Order: sequence, then C-alpha cells, then structure tokens
Amino acid sequence: MTDTFKALILNKEGEEVTRKVTEINKNFLKHGKVLVKVDYSSVNFKDALILKNGAGLVKEFPHIPGIDLSGTVLEKGDSTFNEGDEVILTGCRVGEIYFGGYSQYALVNKEFLIKKPKEFSNKEAMILGTAGFTSLLCAFAVKAREELLLGEKVNDVLVTGATGGVGSVAVMVLTKLGCNVTAVTGKKDQSEYLKELGAKNIIDRKDLEAEPRALGKGLWDGVVDTVGGVILANAISNTKHSGIVATCGNASDNKLNTSVIPFILRGIKLWGIDSVMISNKRREFIWSQVSKLIDFKILNKRIKEISLEELVNEYPKILKGEVAGRLIINPNK
Ligand SMILES: NC(=O)c1ccc[n+]([C@@H]2O[C@H](COP(=O)([O-])OP(=O)(O)OC[C@H]3O[C@@H](n4cnc5c(N)ncnc54)[C@H](OP(=O)(O)O)[C@@H]3O)[C@@H](O)[C@H]2O)c1
Repeated sequence: MTDTFKALILNKEGEEVTRKVTEINKNFLKHGKVLVKVDYSSVNFKDALILKNGAGLVKEFPHIPGIDLSGTVLEKGDSTFNEGDEVILTGCRVGEIYFGGYSQYALVNKEFLIKKPKEFSNKEAMILGTAGFTSLLCAFAVKAREELLLGEKVNDVLVTGATGGVGSVAVMVLTKLGCNVTAVTGKKDQSEYLKELGAKNIIDRKDLEAEPRALGKGLWDGVVDTVGGVILANAISNTKHSGIVATCGNASDNKLNTSVIPFILRGIKLWGIDSVMISNKRREFIWSQVSKLIDFKILNKRIKEISLEELVNEYPKILKGEVAGRLIINPNK
C-alpha cells in the first residue's frame, strides 16, 4: 500500500457542505484496526442524503462517506481475519459516525466485517449492498409466517416501491422462495423488468393511494413495504389473517395512519426492519443465502459502475429519483 491514496472527503466550510475527491495520507484514517483495500462500494438513498449535507448523521467533519464496502484485508489488526480475506461491510453506522467506503482504503472495527462467501464476487456483494441486504431481511421476515402457522405456505405477497433498490431485489428473492409476487410501482414502463425479476402481477401505485378501509380484502400473506404512508396503510388493511407486513422504508412518507382493527381482528404483524444495527449472526446468515436466491445476471443489466469523481456529479440525481438501476462505486477507477 502507498502512504497516500484517493478518498471522497465531505467537509463543512461555514454552513456549506463540500465534497471533493482528494489524496489523503494513511494517518488520516482513524476508526478501527483492520485495514481493508476497498474494491467496491455502493450508493444507497442514505448515501445520497449524507453526500448532500451529512443528513444529520455525520457528527464530525472532515468525513469519508459510504455506508457499504467490500474489499480485501491487508492488515488484520486485532481481528481473527487473515490477510487476503475478502470481506463485506454494510451499515454499522460506517459512513455516518465512522469513516466509510468512498476511499481506496478503510480502517474498520473487526466486529463490522463479515467474511464474504466465495460463491459471489466483491463486486456482486456491492450490487446488493445495504439495499439488497435489507430485501433479504424483509423476505425472511415475511416467510416467518410459515413457522408461526406451523407450515401453512406463504403464497401471495406484495412488494411496494418495486423498481427501487430494496423493492427489486425483494421481488426476485420472494419469487425464488416460491411466492406469487405482486409488484407495486409508479413506473409502468418498467413492467418488463419487474416480470424478469419474477413479478406475477403489477399494480399501479395510484391504486393504493386512496384512504384505506379499516379492513380491506384479505389478499396478501405477506408484504414488503419500502414506501410507508397511505400505501403501507392500504397494504395492512388488505393483508390476510396472520399475515406479516415487513416495513423498512419511507420513500413516500414517514407517517402511518391506520387503526388497530387489522391487528386485533386479523392478527396481522407489523415487523420493522433495520439493517444497520442487526447482529453479526443474522448478517452471516443473510449473506450465506445470497448465492441461492440472487440471479446476478439479471441485476447486472441495471448496474452502472462509476468512480468517486463521477459520484460527486451523480448523487443529486438519486435524490430526484432520476437514476434507473443501481450505481456501484469503484474507488480504483
Ligand atoms: N430499514 C433499513 O435498514 C433500510 C435499508 C435500506 C433502505 N431503507 C429505506 O427503504 C426505502 C427504499 O430504499 P431504496 O434503496 O429501495 O430506494 P430507491 O432505490 O430510491 O427506491 C424507492 C422506490 O420507492 C418508490 N417511490 C419513490 N417515491 C415514491 C412516492 N412518493 N410514493 C410511492 N412510492 C415511491 C419508487 O418505486 P416505484 O416507482 O417502483 O414505485 C422508488 O424506486 C428508503 O426509504 C430507504 O431509506 C431502509
């Protein structure tokens, strides 16, 4: 490793937040003891918010953003990893209160790293990143209904925000798990892609934007909701008895205006999903399922690999919903 390398530095100059790709010295890295050569990072909605202004999550400047990374261990520090091990890091407040993945090298806490299964590459790990990881958490939450009901199958499931980073992988994973997936989208022109991911039916999101009835039709054994608000309220109202609604996002709204009726008359469960602080045991389980449940050939069609310099120009488009598909970052480009 050279003593200097490239990183994207977020800084605060007066009230203005700036972002520049700069050569930094190894001594600049300060969190953790495991030195990782970063091969890839990804761009999630949260990354774009942090790049804009720190999103209230970054407490100290200058800062290196990037909530995900994959790479190779160069110095094992206090960990039980071996030099040369390929590792994945998502969440754990990296890129928020700790320096993140938008850098050619990262110094991280050993507890944050997961050894990458060998069946997929470091690049593929970041094609998923936090978004794909969250989809898998949601899908397994929905499938838990089968255990609660002693084997009754989860058949019909709804995925909202279906063309998004989380929604699209949730459509794929739930299809692979044997469910009939109905995808909710505002983008009718993406129907072919949603079908390629496995969606059996596609609903226009406008159809779920009316005020919900206290108890709608019992349509869904499970729901993966990435948008919140009235769409989530409608999904809850239309869930079958004992159905599980996994809520992970607020792409539409933070608020949820519902009643206790679906919960007390149908025993519906609202299951919150957090990918950031989840246990390592759970992380290892989720990553171990990837090669069975993810078809990277399909996801690869929608990937754009960009440099740190390009990211500085691209991130505002994410906030405006103008990016189709997923951006991954190659800091060595
Ligand atoms: N809990 C966690 O740990 C966790 C982890 C990752 C992400 N998240 C959250 O999950 C959400 C989705 O993340 P993502 O990475 O998938 O974001 P994304 O790629 O931007 O996708 C969000 C999707 O939601 C739909 N959408 C956007 N604006 C909407 C609106 N006003 N009303 C209804 N639908 C709308 C769009 O899909 P269609 O056009 O197909 O409808 C869009 O593609 C975000 O809120 C994110 O913060 C949470």
